[in-house]
Amino acid sequence: MALPSPRGRIVLGIETSCDETAAALVRDDRSVLSAPLFSQLSEHAPYGGIVPEIAARAHLERLDVLIARALEEADTRLADLAAVAATAGPGLIGGLSVGLLTAKMLALVHDKPLIAVNHLEAHALTARFTDALDFPYLVLLISGGHCQLQLVRGVGAYERLGTTLDDAVGEAFDKLAKMLGLGYPGGPRIEVAARGGDPSRFPLPRPFAGEPHCNFSFSGLKTAVRRLLLELGPAALEPSNLADLCASFEQAIADVLVDRTRRALARARQRLGATPPLVVAGGVAANRRIGAALRGLAGEAGVPIVVPPPRLCTDNGTIVAWAGIERLELGLVDGLDVPARPRWPLDPRAEPLLGAGAKGPKA
Ligand code: KG4
Ligand code: ZN
Repeated sequence: MALPSPRGRIVLGIETSCDETAAALVRDDRSVLSAPLFSQLSEHAPYGGIVPEIAARAHLERLDVLIARALEEADTRLADLAAVAATAGPGLIGGLSVGLLTAKMLALVHDKPLIAVNHLEAHALTARFTDALDFPYLVLLISGGHCQLQLVRGVGAYERLGTTLDDAVGEAFDKLAKMLGLGYPGGPRIEVAARGGDPSRFPLPRPFAGEPHCNFSFSGLKTAVRRLLLELGPAALEPSNLADLCASFEQAIADVLVDRTRRALARARQRLGATPPLVVAGGVAANRRIGAALRGLAGEAGVPIVVPPPRLCTDNGTIVAWAGIERLELGLVDGLDVPARPRWPLDPRAEPLLGAGAKGPKA
């Protein structure tokens, strides 16, 4: 196998775990040579959520073109790569298989190391790409599929301090948007609808607030909102009510995230002897009210906070390539028999609290 040169190594990152088809070429000096991305939003929007079969087909149709474009834009040949990295899980099996098989084929034909990346690790390591953050730190991962607090001690060394027992936080936004007929994805639309609204008008529950553990639950909040919508009837959609409702919902979520993260920072402090920096990742980190609330918490705790820019918080190829670079540096490469894993918890010792099934714990 060709040995990668020690400096200036370029890794191809492939992301196909959900509804973004993405490829990126990233160099180990943190420069992004190219990062084309195809979002399938318009294909799933009519269904109000992601349809796995549509996603798999769209990845299959576009991934090779996207990789060719990434190479062309970066003026790089496959022979110049140090490794090929692809998201191998967790996520939708169809998309994962397309991405991982493509990566395996490229690695085999061009005699390159293969790196099977855990998508959650790609999110968790993003702050090291953007801010060269040292370990350890606490990451709050808030996306459409996940809501977790992980203590990150190193590459591959995670301790899950908290997770959702039901919905992911982005899912809660998406479901409310669906109830209100605002369309998909819900988060950004609720944020726009909440502008100018009174966040204290509707008293909504803050599930688990004050509890000693660090887990999340959003189903009670969802039920409370549904009840409120029934009470308000069509008046819920009048602009002033809609703004107050969306602002109240955002505030409830922000309060819950702050409360649970405060608890996790305290727990991390017990583990480490000092409070670690806070990192926020995932699509929901783009929400301004939530971002401001978490900045407030970091200020209160006296720790730095890193919120990567939205394009690196949502799914993309750059963070997969970066996770590949980090793993390559440690010699953590995979065999061509590595499987795609729809469920792949970052912390293998953490008890499955959600959807434990025959295939193992959901991430
Ligand atoms: O990380 P992401 O792009 O995809 C994964 O789930 O992996 O996150 C998408 C989620 C969606 O649920 C979307 O509604 C939510 O992030 N989201 C937001 C905002 N932008 C995206 N939620 C609240 N406010 C936003 N501005
Ligand atoms: Zn993601």
